[in-house]
Amino acid sequence: MTPTPIILDCDPGHDDAIALLLAVASPEIELVGVTTVSGNQTVDKTTVNALKVLELAGRSDIPVYAGADKPFLRERDVAAHVHGESGLDGPDLPEPSRQAESQHAVDYLAEEIRRRNGKITLVPTGPLTNVGLLLSLHPDARPVRIILMGGSIGEGNRTPAAEFNIWADPEAAERVFKEHLDTTMVGLDVTHRALIKDAHTERMRGAGKVGRMVAELMDFYARFHKSRYPDLDGSPMHDPVCVAHLIDPTLMEVRDAFIEVDCSAGPSWGRTNVDWRGREHFGAPNAKVGLDIDGERFAELIVERITSLG
Ligand code: BDR
Ligand code: CA
Repeated sequence: MTPTPIILDCDPGHDDAIALLLAVASPEIELVGVTTVSGNQTVDKTTVNALKVLELAGRSDIPVYAGADKPFLRERDVAAHVHGESGLDGPDLPEPSRQAESQHAVDYLAEEIRRRNGKITLVPTGPLTNVGLLLSLHPDARPVRIILMGGSIGEGNRTPAAEFNIWADPEAAERVFKEHLDTTMVGLDVTHRALIKDAHTERMRGAGKVGRMVAELMDFYARFHKSRYPDLDGSPMHDPVCVAHLIDPTLMEVRDAFIEVDCSAGPSWGRTNVDWRGREHFGAPNAKVGLDIDGERFAELIVERITSLG
């Protein structure tokens, strides 16, 4: 089996951290590089967090590149109410032994994609600012595939209409969908069924240093979800679903879809309007969208891979 090479473009973020760990723990994936963006916290914080998570996993050999520190047009707005002041509140993660690279994330993305003739999958798990800039500034650098966490067919989380990653930079997201690449949108309709429950957390807590740190991350992350989503009986593992989809494509049900982003200034700004039913007068499919997931098998994959890191 040849592992799928990926770049994770992230804003760690508790669930981004689990996505990073899932990637390095999985022989099906080759994590070539990590790029960071402003989202859950400012980009200086999300960059340090990415470095810390790789340090924890013993993978400080994987380079990290800092990217955009604010959206295309909007004011920057972080998610400290979910992820804390550091963006990764909870455990005392190890200090990184390596610094971020000096090259800007968007230039690195373009260079790496060109070097591989496009044969690399981009996994964005934060606002799409870096990816939108890549597509705008480097028209010759197109990844073979994009699997992004963001949006929702139904209810949002940052507002009733909009999911956080798309809401934070709707113009960048619209730029990505307009490109008609092989893009898969993993939205809240799926991730709110991809839950880590207390029992999963306890199984990880007993599994070495990484397991304990992940459990402490989950303890912090669960506080917000228990109060905002008491109906869920667990915390959504939004970002790891993208990586899990590459590891085992049978976990998530996916359909072709036409997706556009509401970039207007009203209450629906950042909403993803998703047509996967082939309605008349809509565009031809420009993406794929996740509809459902086998949540039990997904959670088992997370626990198995995280505990394997020891
Ligand atoms: C998304 O927003 C962030 O808070 C999470 O890391 C995830 O990428 C969920 O709406
Ligand atoms: Ca994220």
